[in-house]
Amino acid sequence: MLLQADAIQSRIRDLALEIEADYPSDEEIHMVCVLKGGFMFMSDLVRSMTTRVTMDFIAVSSYGSGTKSSGEVRFQKDLDTSLEGRHVIIVEDIVDTGLTLKYLQEILRSRAPKSLKTSCLLSKPSRRRVTVPVEYIGFTIEDKFVVGYGLDYAEKYRNLPYIAILQEG
Ligand code: IMP
Ligand code: MG
Repeated sequence: MLLQADAIQSRIRDLALEIEADYPSDEEIHMVCVLKGGFMFMSDLVRSMTTRVTMDFIAVSSYGSGTKSSGEVRFQKDLDTSLEGRHVIIVEDIVDTGLTLKYLQEILRSRAPKSLKTSCLLSKPSRRRVTVPVEYIGFTIEDKFVVGYGLDYAEKYRNLPYIAILQEG
């Protein structure tokens, strides 16, 4: 066990307040969830926010089914709506090497959003291979492979309401 469900919930409520305080109160915030890992974080984060939120979903994969990054990023599902002129926040489960986010940020920035920020529930700074800005981080963790709360190992454990370290072997 690394992060209990109630610790995650309480941190997300704070993050939601922090995010909302950073935007003018009459302007919409467009939340872009990175599937599949970001689905649970997204659903709790937006439930802690007021009504001026819109949502879309994108799917990229940088991993096969194991625990090691391939460095390869595949685009599997695009957004349904344009980002032009909108305040966009990318909502991702974890920033590890940073390769996935770097790629995503470049693509989304090219679609002319009014602003582009990123929120990750988890960050593993010791593993970073590229510099990538992440404005809202839930928890900074050590270099351990974790599962639960959206994060998987070979598509398993995403449903856990808490985050646990996957034991090797
Ligand atoms: P990056 O491109 O190396 O930053 O990888 C980011 C993606 O790898 C995340 O969106 C996750 O899907 C996956 N990932 C990285 N670390 C973990 C982990 O500890 N558990 C589960 N998935 C992980
Ligand atoms: Mg992911």
